[in-house]
Amino acid sequence: MFDPAVFAARRDAYMAAIGPNAVAVVRSLPERLRNGDAMHPFRQHSDILYLTGFVEPDTTLILRPGAESDRMVMFVRPRDPELEIWDGKRAGLEGAKEIYGADASFPAAELASKLGDLIGNFEELHYSLGLDSEMDLVVAAAIQRLRRTERKGKRPPRAVVDPRVALHELRLHKRPEELQTLRKACAITSDAHIIAMRAGRPGVFEHELEAAINHEFRRRGGNGPGYASIVGAGENATILHYIENRCAIADGDLVLVDAGCEYDHYTSDITRTWPANGRFSPAQRRVYELVLATQKSAIALARPGATIDDIHDHCVRALTTGMIELGLLEGPVEARIEDATYKKFYMHGTSHWLGLDVHDAGAYMLGGKPRPLAAGMVITIEPGLYIGVAAENVPAEYRGIGVRIEDDVAITSDGNEVLTAACPKEIEDLEAACR
Ligand code: GLY
Ligand code: MN
Ligand code: MN
Repeated sequence: MFDPAVFAARRDAYMAAIGPNAVAVVRSLPERLRNGDAMHPFRQHSDILYLTGFVEPDTTLILRPGAESDRMVMFVRPRDPELEIWDGKRAGLEGAKEIYGADASFPAAELASKLGDLIGNFEELHYSLGLDSEMDLVVAAAIQRLRRTERKGKRPPRAVVDPRVALHELRLHKRPEELQTLRKACAITSDAHIIAMRAGRPGVFEHELEAAINHEFRRRGGNGPGYASIVGAGENATILHYIENRCAIADGDLVLVDAGCEYDHYTSDITRTWPANGRFSPAQRRVYELVLATQKSAIALARPGATIDDIHDHCVRALTTGMIELGLLEGPVEARIEDATYKKFYMHGTSHWLGLDVHDAGAYMLGGKPRPLAAGMVITIEPGLYIGVAAENVPAEYRGIGVRIEDDVAITSDGNEVLTAACPKEIEDLEAACR
């Protein structure tokens, strides 16, 4: 976890951004039942992690930059020796103040009765409406009560503003300590992919590789996978969100692994595709070389001023040109881009923001136009080609081949830093790692 001063600086920046007439209410998502009486492991909402580092459920953070006192208020689970025997230690009301910097703290159960008073008389309420319907009702009830009692003093906020407007803009621009944490997540992830390349051979099951990868994530102190790890062999590599990971790898299969370690709550996101038997077939090699050349030339475009759309358009053009050369599509290139038939084999975007969430917060458009990249933003670059086993009008040798190559790229003042450069992707390096 970062030094408390890091979180204090983030809150100061956020409060400066929303101004003295606004109040922000940031709420953890509810714990979820998995089955029977077993819960899904709780993972804190990234907005709360960003502003406090506080990991416990049932937490509400209220920031009131213009208030004379109690600018930072936290509602948390109180200490409870009985329950802590079962569910683990709690920071409690004292910890919220002493460790996490709250000016005032209250039991989570008092949120509904105290919320109106804390948000009253501010112009704007920064709150993520629609994310958690139970919390929406609590907020709506507080506003309704303020309407009823307005003549006695406090009036309700005039507007509800989405956290995307200010908070997610801050999350988009990574500070040095965030980049350092992402480098660590990427280093662990790169090593885990290499472990999978070594272990993955015909006869091994996809879930064995998933286990080896997730083992490395935890062994190195990561939180675990930042999203469900994808290990798809053969035609499973053509299923974009294949997470069953239950088949045996066959001789001649390509294996597509998309897995990223979450470390200190920041996640990496790497995809590599490699031959289980240590040798690309000629058809696999042609497809792989096309995706690799496309991905490397796309990374070269990632610099301040360029946009994610520029990078995607470049990949679409390069892949479409290559698909025509391979006989997957009929030319000319312009027509295939125009009628979007390339989407039969390249159907997803090329990049997304990366950070606390794998698809991280931050607006992709500014003023109706794709926003220019700037130093401190982190994106993935992940072109691929997916030729289904039943694809029509394509040479048979390409059917069932799926290839994606995904790196994590931090934009710097004069270009970029590939955070995942340690993970092999050149054909000879992959063949060596797989042998
Ligand atoms: N692993 C999720 C993605 O690549 O977007
Ligand atoms: Mn990705
Ligand atoms: Mn991925």
